[in-house]
Amino acid sequence: MKKYFVMLMMVAVAFLFVSESLLNAAGDFKYIGVSKCKMCHKTAKSGDQFTKWSNEGHSKAYATLATPEAKEVAQKAGVTGDPQKSEKCLKCHVTAFDAPATAKEASLTLQEGISCEACHGPGSAYKSNAVMKAVYAGTKKGAEVGLIEPTKEVCIKCHNPESPTYKPFKFEEAVKKILHPVPKS
Ligand code: HEC
Ligand code: HEC
Ligand code: HEC
Ligand code: HEC
Repeated sequence: MKKYFVMLMMVAVAFLFVSESLLNAAGDFKYIGVSKCKMCHKTAKSGDQFTKWSNEGHSKAYATLATPEAKEVAQKAGVTGDPQKSEKCLKCHVTAFDAPATAKEASLTLQEGISCEACHGPGSAYKSNAVMKAVYAGTKKGAEVGLIEPTKEVCIKCHNPESPTYKPFKFEEAVKKILHPVPKS
């Protein structure tokens, strides 16, 4: 009897393993929003990425669209109506605007503007402590769980001349302004 139970368990485990890798192969990662990263990335020990991000422009990118300046920019760009509702502005001022609705959890909000996942990729499969630690330690490839190591290519999806207020983008300088490293222990 016990033998069958063990075999059944082995089959079940194999099935779980296969279905999980199929899911990952399909790239079924979802955006979960900054509130889900905050719980671990707000401590001094981790480098408090949350507070650093909260104090820089990306966290205000949606709010920016409500300013009088944004209305002027919108008018010049031929956008009538509220810039916070125009896809011509939202596409670069919020996280994952172009991703299908099925790839976004309700916890991802417009208000958070350009949050962690806009640069690091959708977090549903990498948000657990065990996975995060394994990626950080280099024992798991970030790409397998949807975690992106942001390069210039990620930035210039938005920092390009299609931006009505475009300022020439120098990656090395720009990255220095938003650094949020994990302290070396
Ligand atoms: C999804 C679009 C998007 C992506 C991706 C993006 N940015 Fe930005 N970035 C913006 C927008 C929009 C602003 C202006 C925000 C505001 O002021 O409201 C901005 C502002 C900035 C600023 C000025 C912030 C400040 O407070 O001084 C820097 C520096 C910057 N980005 C660097 C980067 C770098 C480096 C990357 C890639 C690693 C990157 N950005 C990726 C859209 C983006
Ligand atoms: C292609 C991406 C992109 C689009 C589309 C876009 N923006 Fe931006 N926006 C940016 C980036 C990047 C910045 C940071 C400054 C820059 O342009 O280099 C920014 C900054 C701003 C700022 C702050 C001004 C400043 O000098 O930092 C305002 C206001 C703004 N955008 C309004 C708008 C409005 C209104 C629309 C829609 C008509 C819009 N943006 C469409 C990417 C974009
Ligand atoms: C505008 C893009 C952008 C946003 C938004 C962003 N990051 Fe990053 N992040 C980067 C880049 C670029 C690097 C690599 C910087 C470098 O060269 O060391 C990085 C590195 C990191 C690292 C690794 C640091 C190390 O020492 O290895 C952590 C952890 C991190 N980000 C967490 C976050 C969290 C959490 C948020 C949201 C609260 C966030 N990031 C938001 C672009 C971004
Ligand atoms: C359950 C806790 C937890 C949550 C939730 C979490 N992280 Fe992490 N993350 C960690 C730990 C632990 C590390 C390893 C570094 C350290 O010890 O601070 C890490 C490392 C990282 C790194 C660096 C990985 C590398 O080596 O390149 C990035 C980037 C990152 N996290 C982004 C995020 C983002 C974005 C979110 C939300 C979508 C998130 N994390 C949610 C705990 C967490």
